[in-house]
Amino acid sequence: MSIKLEKINYIYGEGTTYRKHALKDVDLEIAHGQFVGIIGHTGSGKSTLIQHLNGLLKATDGVYYFNGENVYADGYNMKALRSQVGLVFQYPEHQLFEVDVLSDVCFGPKNQGLSREECEKRAREALEAVGFPEKLYNQSPFELSGGQKRRVAIAGVLAMRPKVLVLDEPTAGLDPAGRDEILDQIARLHKESDMTVLLVSHSMEDIAKYVDRIIVMNHGSKMFDGTPKEVFAHYKELEEVGLAAPQVTYIMHALKENGFPVDVSATTIDEAVEEIMKAL
Ligand SMILES: Nc1ncnc2c1ncn2[C@@H]1O[C@H](COP(=O)(O)OP(=O)(O)OP(=O)(O)O)[C@@H](O)[C@H]1O
Ligand SMILES: [Mg+2]
Repeated sequence: MSIKLEKINYIYGEGTTYRKHALKDVDLEIAHGQFVGIIGHTGSGKSTLIQHLNGLLKATDGVYYFNGENVYADGYNMKALRSQVGLVFQYPEHQLFEVDVLSDVCFGPKNQGLSREECEKRAREALEAVGFPEKLYNQSPFELSGGQKRRVAIAGVLAMRPKVLVLDEPTAGLDPAGRDEILDQIARLHKESDMTVLLVSHSMEDIAKYVDRIIVMNHGSKMFDGTPKEVFAHYKELEEVGLAAPQVTYIMHALKENGFPVDVSATTIDEAVEEIMKAL
């Protein structure tokens, strides 16, 4: 599985007064198995970008290759693409609707035409993978807490066994504890499965802690693309577009400016602690 976008442009409302050029010449290659964070201010094109990946939006211009095949070529199997690239929308729990949790998670595999037993097997597996407690499988999804609803919604996508899992702000609206739990679970899923994971987030701290690579979007274009260390080295430019680097970056720079011989490229608290201990 690999993803390659070439000069992708997307325009909303072409020919109307609402015309919006939401993606501008975006080139992007994602190798199988990567854990990628996508960050950018409101309206920078993050959601528009990821909706191209499962074919929900079709580029106004440009080419998308999934596994080397041109997705926009005549006869391309869009249905297969949708089952390989699982998209979890922002506030996905708004889309829960079945009478109980298990039926809700079964919905995707059922649509893929699998037998009842197979659907249930996959649903149980997916619920287990997101750490959802078995004793609540028969509960109505509407009676669950926000964090549990979110897990059920993510499990609903996982149950289709996608090769690529794309999550749009999976922690939006959750309290800090719920946020960390969901992110830890996603990181574990990435580590233990063979999936590529793309995580859209507003939080630099979240992204820095988990991903191998960060893509920064700004006004519909890719502004930076690299490891967290590479991207946060541009912290001044990030600030200019209203995005801050993680607090750790600022602390390390302040220490260095005050004569402590620390490596300023630490991006997580653990790395910072290690650096500071070394310097002391
Ligand atoms: N359905 C739509 N019709 C018209 N314009 C849209 C539509 N959806 C998004 N846009 C516009 O396209 C641009 C990119 O929007 P997009 O939702 O991709 O941004 P985003 O980075 O996901 O923002 P957020 O962080 O708020 O979720 C914005 O200017 C937005 O107003
Ligand atoms: Mg969005």
